[in-house]
Amino acid sequence: DDPAADPFEIAAAAASDIARLSGVERHDIAVTLGSGWGRAAELIGEETASFPATEVTGFSKPALEGHVGTLRSVRTPGGKNVLVIGARTHYYEGHGVRRVVHSVRTAAATGATTMILTNGAGGIRETWKPGQPVLISDHINLTADSPLEGATFIDLTDLYSQRLRDLARSIDPTLDEGVYTQFRGPHYETPAEVQMAKTIGGHIVGMSTALEAIAARQAGMEILGFSLITNLAAGIQKTPLSHAEVLEAGREAEPVISALLARVIGAL
Ligand code: 6GU
Repeated sequence: DDPAADPFEIAAAAASDIARLSGVERHDIAVTLGSGWGRAAELIGEETASFPATEVTGFSKPALEGHVGTLRSVRTPGGKNVLVIGARTHYYEGHGVRRVVHSVRTAAATGATTMILTNGAGGIRETWKPGQPVLISDHINLTADSPLEGATFIDLTDLYSQRLRDLARSIDPTLDEGVYTQFRGPHYETPAEVQMAKTIGGHIVGMSTALEAIAARQAGMEILGFSLITNLAAGIQKTPLSHAEVLEAGREAEPVISALLARVIGAL
């Protein structure tokens, strides 16, 4: 939180903590598990190590009471080391964008060249059903913030890698895709805001991922993004939204989407 601190030095310190705690010198792939994606870790491969995120430099205390974020090192059958990040700091927690992207910068510092970002989100497309996973094809960042500081002009073309989306579709050809719109939250959008998101080209509404993807691009990683549609967005679905409904959709979809994610990682 010290404005004079270098976020990349803190990420490097976090990466050496992870190397020490896991005994794994280099990770190849990192995956952030959002709402509904939590069971993927056990399906990706053999767990080498698991530890609370709070043991690693720069990771925040858990936002939700009783929910300790866990970091895991998992080895795929193909011999790749995967850093599984079960701890996400959301922008709406108010600790600033550096904390939001610290896990991504740490992943890059462990050596990971592929960053997979997953989340639970609202769907704008009426044909989508709760429990359906969709690929993120691009994003619209409505936070009015950026993880880049100073004159860091970075291209965001093909931010969510076409190559990796094609690879995911080779595993599940039914996967649809859409533009993820990151709102600040933590309230859900009004129906008018959802219409705005739709008008400007959004298909998915959520409270994470876009800022993380920008940091991952800055770090030179190839990015794959998945949203679990936990509900349709306000005004698209006719019933009010509830956090309980979002969690329930996540729980129901978890076995299926976790298996999909594990298969995609196995194919990388
Ligand atoms: Cl409808 N909006 C946002 N911002 N996040 C969500 C959501 C909606 N549903 C699940 N997460």
